[in-house]
Amino acid sequence: MTEFAESAESNLEPRLPVYDAIRRRRDVRAEFTGKPIAENVLERILGAGHSAPSVGNTQPWDFVVVRDPATLHSFADHVADARLRFAQSLPEERKKTFDAIKIEGIRESGMGVVVTYDRGRGGQHILGRHTIDDTGLFSVVLAIQNLWLAAVAENVGIGWVSFYDESYLTELLKIPEPVRPIAWLCVGDVAEFQQVPDLERFGWRGRRPLADAIHFEKF
Ligand SMILES: Cc1cc2nc3c(=O)[nH]c(=O)nc-3n(C[C@H](O)[C@H](O)[C@H](O)COP(=O)(O)O)c2cc1C
Repeated sequence: MTEFAESAESNLEPRLPVYDAIRRRRDVRAEFTGKPIAENVLERILGAGHSAPSVGNTQPWDFVVVRDPATLHSFADHVADARLRFAQSLPEERKKTFDAIKIEGIRESGMGVVVTYDRGRGGQHILGRHTIDDTGLFSVVLAIQNLWLAAVAENVGIGWVSFYDESYLTELLKIPEPVRPIAWLCVGDVAEFQQVPDLERFGWRGRRPLADAIHFEKF
């Protein structure tokens, strides 16, 4: 905890060098304590998300904060079904590995933040999106990464859940057309950050070497 200059309850932003935040960041599933996080901490994290770059400066994201236990339970049940469907689609060996992996901490975190994408924001003439429509979506994902790293600095865990049907989540949260939910993020206080990603620890897939990802001049 020595890296954190300020406690989570402080009104001051904690300072954590960016490379340390990048290294420490994990997708959190099992380490949520259930302790509520302070409102000013949540606001700072969402503020970091809201500071992201976006195509044509459209800021096409919104953040839906979900704390109602009934909604958390409904969503967790839906995700459990989606998990089962995925497990049933796997060959036996893969299924065995997958069975040990926790894929969400929806109830344990006590809070979900659903990040949405409004393709309609900014009107028809979006500077920079006329050539690549996906840039709107990319902008939302940058907001997610910003808030994910800020959360690390606040000692708050984030767990991205994508095991759901988009239409289900749209209905559950009454998200209006044409807005799309892009991610359900479990957000909460954590006991610790794992040093090795869960999918690596449980033998699903590790990180490939950086050298394999870098290309010079041509792909
Ligand atoms: C778009 C996206 C969707 C993801 N969906 C899930 C998910 O449904 N459940 C889960 O446990 N992790 C999910 N993750 C987390 C990844 O499994 C995790 O980022 C990856 O294994 C690397 O681990 P790390 O984030 O701890 O470095 C998702 C991550 C991304 C970027």
